[in-house]
Amino acid sequence: MKVLNYGSLNVDYVYQVPHMVTAGETLLSSKLNVFSGGKGLNQSIALAKAGVAVDHAGMIGSDGRFLLDECTRYGVGTNFLKKTDEKNGHTIIQVDETGQNCILLYGGTNQMQTKEYIDDVLSHFSGGDVLVLQNEVNLLDYLIDRASELGMRIILNPSPMNDSVLSCALEKVDLFLLNEIEGEQLTGTDDPEQILNRLHEKYPAASFVLTLGSRGAWYYDGTKKAFQDIFPVKAVDTTAAGDTFTGYFIAAMLDGMAVEDCLKRAALASSIAVSRAGAAPSIPSKEEVEEALKRI
Ligand code: RIB
Repeated sequence: MKVLNYGSLNVDYVYQVPHMVTAGETLLSSKLNVFSGGKGLNQSIALAKAGVAVDHAGMIGSDGRFLLDECTRYGVGTNFLKKTDEKNGHTIIQVDETGQNCILLYGGTNQMQTKEYIDDVLSHFSGGDVLVLQNEVNLLDYLIDRASELGMRIILNPSPMNDSVLSCALEKVDLFLLNEIEGEQLTGTDDPEQILNRLHEKYPAASFVLTLGSRGAWYYDGTKKAFQDIFPVKAVDTTAAGDTFTGYFIAAMLDGMAVEDCLKRAALASSIAVSRAGAAPSIPSKEEVEEALKRI
């Protein structure tokens, strides 16, 4: 079984601010850091750090060449990455004194996927292989359709949610990892239990992991239901907390662990990421998570 993550790679410009800038305001930032990021890349790095042999597919622009080195540094397979001379996808992220963030996303190369490129990448995969997706690249619907035709297991983190997710054949997805806002957009209710019930009604063959921020996370597949609380930490920067959770949950699941253990590892890894600055660089190693598991 091979694991492919087809997704975004961003350059994250992270500004430390006293509060999130408001309309019409000019605000002095006390610090700027430039990190590797993107929901796709973060999740690939989390998967690799958690011990999964994952290949990443996506496009790198002229100003994002260091992202390739980041993949190599963290053990993410780079054979399917494509270089272009266009401007790389990037973000402007404000992080306030409580560690909360606010993200402005520029699509750049992440919105330049072509059907030819996707066909070429997917031609290296077949039934039973795993495809991990988020919603920061264009042609998400095409990726889901082609992967489904191949019999791949499709895992979707529908973030950031927008109409392009709603236009996909979501019944082809095997596992959704989503937060309550995305859950509400897919089901029309903000009650976590109802979100899970309605998701199961709409997509009966799928499993769901619903994250609720500081209120923990639920798993539901129509039969089994499990809950995991958060591990509280002082938040430094919440960027990539969800991506870390996603990568570690998938890794544990592919390892055949019980759902309760998958949730616990994911929550613990995510809490470590929250206690550090940056996106990809904040994701803990498997050894760090194993050590932390011994202390709880
Ligand atoms: O999930 C966090 C990521 O979202 C950041 O790294 C940023 O690039 C945005 O895509």
